[in-house]
Amino acid sequence: MAFVKVSREKDIVYQYDESGVARVPILVGECKDCALERVAILPGCDWSPEIYKLEEHNQVFLIMDGEGYIRTPRRVFNIDEQAVFVPEFDKEHFIIHCSPKSEKPMKIMHAVSEIHPFDLDCLTNARMALPRFRRISEAWLYKEFNTAENVQQLTLLEHRNLGRLSMGGTIDKGPTKVGTHIHNELEQWYIVLPGSKFTYYAERDGERDEIRVTEGDITFTPHGSHHGSWCEEGENYKYIWFELCTDGYPGNIS
Ligand SMILES: [Fe+2]
Repeated sequence: MAFVKVSREKDIVYQYDESGVARVPILVGECKDCALERVAILPGCDWSPEIYKLEEHNQVFLIMDGEGYIRTPRRVFNIDEQAVFVPEFDKEHFIIHCSPKSEKPMKIMHAVSEIHPFDLDCLTNARMALPRFRRISEAWLYKEFNTAENVQQLTLLEHRNLGRLSMGGTIDKGPTKVGTHIHNELEQWYIVLPGSKFTYYAERDGERDEIRVTEGDITFTPHGSHHGSWCEEGENYKYIWFELCTDGYPGNIS
């Protein structure tokens, strides 16, 4: 049985409630420390997510597609491209709004993680300021040297600054690749963005999984697996990675 798990967008049936919001849990049970769901909001509708105390859960919203805004009591963040949002725990309620001018529903990947002692240490001693809203065009860029030359590598949620969670992305046009690498401590999800299509593979204990992924697909690869991906001529390479560091990062934060 494949150890790389994939949630295919084409298999998802969105059933909207009376407020115009559909929520579909995905990859259930694959990572015991983080629950994922897909959320879709119809044009002109709002979603008011549940909020959690710092000791309960952390949560991350990745806007995969659609336009609108996120409104807190103090601020409004315009969603005019893919973006990530992390609220400040239970400090304030907020709504996510899909523009009535949208031709299609807004699509969100929503992750709710468990709080580990490392999270508590980081989140109460030193962490990024919250709420965090960052569009992908606002990401800072990093460079890894096992990638094709022109790959843009994005950081959206910096490692070690949000407890065990981090997020970034990869953008290029085929032919291109991210070479084989391993994260011994990181559970990793890939979220394939609109217009993108490429081949992803992972290897563990002599077993190799190789899959074609396309826009809206979300994969999960457990820590300790060598993995990489490539994109053919004429294909777009655009995905978000999201990670959870199983036992937290080494070293003392405070
Ligand atoms: Fe990776």
